Formats: sequence, structure tokens, C-alpha cells
Amino acid sequence: MSESEVGKFNQQVLTSIDGWCDELIAGLRDHGWWASTKPVLPKPLLRAMRQEVEDLWENGDFIQSQSVLGGNIYYDKKHVFATEIKSEKYTTSPRMWHYTVTMTRELVRRVNAAFPEMDLNGKFIGNKLNMSVGNGAAFDAHLDVGVAEKPFNRKLSLLLYLNDSWRPALGGEIVLLGEGQTEAEAAKSQPGALGLPVTLPPTSGTLVAFWSDKILHKVKASEVLKGMKDYRVSYVIWLVGEDHEEQVAPSSAAEDASKAETAPSWAF
Ligand SMILES: [Fe+2]
Repeated sequence: MSESEVGKFNQQVLTSIDGWCDELIAGLRDHGWWASTKPVLPKPLLRAMRQEVEDLWENGDFIQSQSVLGGNIYYDKKHVFATEIKSEKYTTSPRMWHYTVTMTRELVRRVNAAFPEMDLNGKFIGNKLNMSVGNGAAFDAHLDVGVAEKPFNRKLSLLLYLNDSWRPALGGEIVLLGEGQTEAEAAKSQPGALGLPVTLPPTSGTLVAFWSDKILHKVKASEVLKGMKDYRVSYVIWLVGEDHEEQVAPSSAAEDASKAETAPSWAF
């Protein structure tokens, strides 16, 4: 991308944020979550970002995604692959990179202004780009609090979908369930007061935001009917805050678990 293309891209992202950020803040304040009802970025830009993801896939940048069960048991997430957007991948995915940097900077500033107690860190973040290849790929109910970013804790999850070809037959909807560690807890937490549960299709440009340690969520089984164009792409940015309580050094096992999610390694 030329310098002027980068400038134009970043301006489009900032204009977009300007359009929905107040709604996002209100949603977080009232319900702990928010989802856009229309694409948050212009279609051509979303298509260019999707192409970058497919290019990363063709380059072999994705690896089998893993989950942690009970703190120290690791298992492969079937039919789900993941990678991280880092500066090393800039040549292949410049828009994904600039989206990440611009979103993070701007949302840390705006969310901190609205929720000073979150004390989000503007220099470090976590991110994960997921590619589900069908065959019923699903994510069980979970909270987004993980070991990967210690001593930083994930505070706010920002999910962007890049699925031009999505239609109901492909499934893969995200379901925000309620507050709690398990589906039973979430069901008991009076989720109706939060406007939950809610099922959201992963259509291109849909942004879903929620407090990472509060909103239990899962992803329904997804299918692929017509090849790579149907692969389900979700990109999550986690805004993080530093844990001010006693910090626990990450164990080597915990580090091993985060093959696609390294500790925050880049600063602005
Ligand atoms: Fe999640």
C-alpha cells in the first residue's frame, strides 16, 4: 500500500468508528455487549481484507487452533485454524495490520474515556484471526479470558467478521448467552435484562463487542458448501488492561498453549 492508500484506509476506519462508537459505549454500559446492525466498514474495504486473509491462508500462515480445558489440558479445535496479525505479516496483510493498529488506538482512547476503571493499555493487545473450514466447526461456550496475554488481562473483545458469501446454510452464528462461566450459570444470571441470549450471523463487516470476562458465548456449527469462499473468518482484537493484583508468572505449559497467540509482542 502506498502512503496515501494507508492514510485513506486509516481515515475510513476512523470515520467508521465515529459512526458507531457512541452506540458501542452505550451498549457496553447498559448490557455489557453491542453488535452492529450493518457493516462497520465499506464493502470494497471488507473484500480487500478478506482477500488478505485468504492470502495468509495460501501462504500457510495458519496453524491448528487450540483450546485450554481446565487450565492445563490442551486440545485441537477441530476444523479451526488460527494466526495472529503481526508486523511480520505486513506485506501480505497491510489492511489487517492498519485496521488493528487504528482500531486499538482509537478504541482504547474512547473506551477509557467512558470507563476509566477499565484502564485499558494502549500499547499492547492480543489478536487472533480464525479460519473455520466447515465440517461442523464450532466453539463451545466460553469466556474470552485466557492465559496468553499475562500479565495483561483481556478486557474487551472486538470481533469482526469477513464472510462475503455467508448465508444461513453455512451456520457459524455467534450466540451471546449471558453472564457466567457455564451455560447453566449464564441461564441463571437473568440474561433477559442484558438483552440475551442473542444469535448473530457472521456477515461481512458485522462487529460484535463484549466485556471479555463477563459475556459467555459460543459459536454454532459452521459448514462449507462451495470451497474457500465459504470458510468462516472471524478476527478478534482483545483490548487488555494490566492486572494490578498479584501477578502470576505464566507457566511454560501456558505459553505452549498459545501457539497462535503469543504474549503481546508489539508496541505502537
Ligand atoms: Fe471467544
